[in-house]
Amino acid sequence: MTIPLVDLNRQYEEIKDEVKEAMTRIMESSAFILGEEVRQFENEFASFCGSRYAIGVSSGTAALHLALLAAGVEKGDEVITVPYTFTATVEVISYVGAKVVFVDINPEDYNIDVSCIEEKITKKTKAILLVHIYGHPVDLEPILALADKYGLKVIEDAAQAHGAEYRGKKVSVLGTVGCFSFYPGKNLGAYGDGGIVVTNDREIANKVKLLRNHGQREKYEHIVEGFNYRLDALQAAILRVKLTRLSSWNKNRRQHAKLYNELLAGMEVITPVEREYAKHVYHLYVVRTKDRNGLQEWLQSQGIATGTHYSLPLHLQKAYEHLGYKKGDFPVAEKCSQEVISLPMFPELTREEIEEVCGAVKSFLSNPSLSSP
Ligand SMILES: Cc1ncc(COP(=O)(O)O)c(C=O)c1O
Repeated sequence: MTIPLVDLNRQYEEIKDEVKEAMTRIMESSAFILGEEVRQFENEFASFCGSRYAIGVSSGTAALHLALLAAGVEKGDEVITVPYTFTATVEVISYVGAKVVFVDINPEDYNIDVSCIEEKITKKTKAILLVHIYGHPVDLEPILALADKYGLKVIEDAAQAHGAEYRGKKVSVLGTVGCFSFYPGKNLGAYGDGGIVVTNDREIANKVKLLRNHGQREKYEHIVEGFNYRLDALQAAILRVKLTRLSSWNKNRRQHAKLYNELLAGMEVITPVEREYAKHVYHLYVVRTKDRNGLQEWLQSQGIATGTHYSLPLHLQKAYEHLGYKKGDFPVAEKCSQEVISLPMFPELTREEIEEVCGAVKSFLSNPSLSSP
């Protein structure tokens, strides 16, 4: 048996008739960019999140870039974020000319260590860019209180957290502005690139709308310089089909996580937590173990694909040398990056496959001769 980390084919099998119908509708309309289909998807996604506005864009990275611009982050400002995320979270801070200020993560849910934020706030701090990593919400309340105290914007990178909840509310709507990616493997994924910005703030929504389409208010009337960050109608049509199933897919992910937790209990692996305020949507099911590389190799030899999110924190990446951080600056992120392994997780995974994965983990952990030297 081979078990992939993510299997998009199985999902396609389930929805292909509807997807084909939606794609045909767009082809026959010849309206490929923005337009009615995108508007409908935006309305449906806003309603899913419980936000007033949703603005479709061309990727999660574009969403974050526009969110920072619309929140007024500019050259000379400082933005607090984590070094333990996908690089896009941090790239966009540089895009707007602001300075990246890292804060370590906590080793329980791998999100920002809330107790370390205040000491990093200076007169130049403009925003906190949070990441709901793996689909587990950040503890937002204390951060919103800090933002209030110091007059900061809160931007939520919810690229891995479609449908996750913080105290009963969907993530992305509690801060100033929220951003999602529709990269194909995400909990809600397009068949290409896509993203969306959600907010309750009308001014921010209007700015994002302008900036995604060359700063254009009316045809050929450009009131600011913008970008080509538009969402395609084809992607919107596909996302509309998938959005109707997102909650049920997330439910499956949560059931799979529960089964993994049960089957891995008692083994020398640290399984994910779900805090009392959180509804986790398990974009990734990540466990920690001392001999991560050994386990990964063993699982691969057994036909089981895994991932390492993230094997090198951003402050140690060549691209971020210029920030001047060094090894040891963020010990939790560094330790986790050596120990984490993402096990197969997607809605259509079967009980038998999860049992197979856990059986293989058990064989590895109970057989010292399989460990790395
Ligand atoms: C946490 C995080 N932020 C941002 C992004 C960027 O999204 P995209 O690939 O759609 O630009 C991703 C996805 O890859 C992500 O996982």
